[in-house]
Amino acid sequence: MAKISPSILSADFSNLKEEIGKVEEGGADFIHLDVMDGIFVPNITFGPPVIKKIKAVTEVPFDVHLMIDRPERYIEDFIVAGADIITVHAESTTHLHRTIQYIKSYDKKVGVALNPSTSLESIEYVLEDIDMVLIMTVNPGFGGQSFIPAMKRKIQRLRKTIDDNNLDIKIEVDGGVKLDNAKEIIDLGVDILVVGSGIYGAEDVVQRTKMFKNI
Ligand code: DX5
Ligand code: ZN
Repeated sequence: MAKISPSILSADFSNLKEEIGKVEEGGADFIHLDVMDGIFVPNITFGPPVIKKIKAVTEVPFDVHLMIDRPERYIEDFIVAGADIITVHAESTTHLHRTIQYIKSYDKKVGVALNPSTSLESIEYVLEDIDMVLIMTVNPGFGGQSFIPAMKRKIQRLRKTIDDNNLDIKIEVDGGVKLDNAKEIIDLGVDILVVGSGIYGAEDVVQRTKMFKNI
C-alpha cells in the first residue's frame, strides 16, 4: 500500500486548519507543502511563516517540496518552521551534493525532485545520500495538470536502480495523480503519492483521502 501525501495547493487557503484536519481524518501519511517563488516556477505560494502556523494544528509529518531558486538560502527557515522531509529540485541548486549534506546536517530527511525533462542520471552520484526521489509527473507550478505518460518509464527505471543496488530510497510521484490512474502508478513501484486536486477537488475530502489510502 502506498502512502498518501495530500497537497494543500488545491485546498481552501482561507481555511487551512480545517482543510488539513480533513486529510488527517482520512488517514494522510504526510502533508505535502508546495513552496513556489515565482522564479524557479511561474507561480508563488507560501513560505516558512505559513508553514509554522499550520504545523501547530496537525500531527501529520510535513513533506516540504521546494520549488524555489537556490533553496540552500532558506533551508534553515523551513526546518525551524517544521519541515520533516525537505525536497529540493536538482535543477534549482548548483551544488546539489552540498545542499543535500546541508539538509542532512540538521538531521532531516532529504528528497531530490526531478522535472519531467530531467534525466535520472543527474542524481546518479547522490543516490547514496538521499531518502527520497520525487518524480514530477507534470511541469511544476500548478495543480490540476495531466500526468505525463513518459514518466512511467522514468519511474520504472528508478525502481529498478533502487532495487538492483539495494538502496534505501522512497519514490514519490507528484502531479496528475487521480483515482483512475493511482493503481497503475503504484504498480510501477511508487511508495508515496502526492495528490492535490484529486483530493481537495472532491466533495467529501475525508472520504476521498480514505479511497486513495485503500488503493
Ligand atoms: C505542482 C505541485 C504539486 C501539485 C499537484 O507543481 O508540485 O504538488 O499540488 O497537484 P495535482 O495533484 O492537482 O496535479
Ligand atoms: Zn509538489
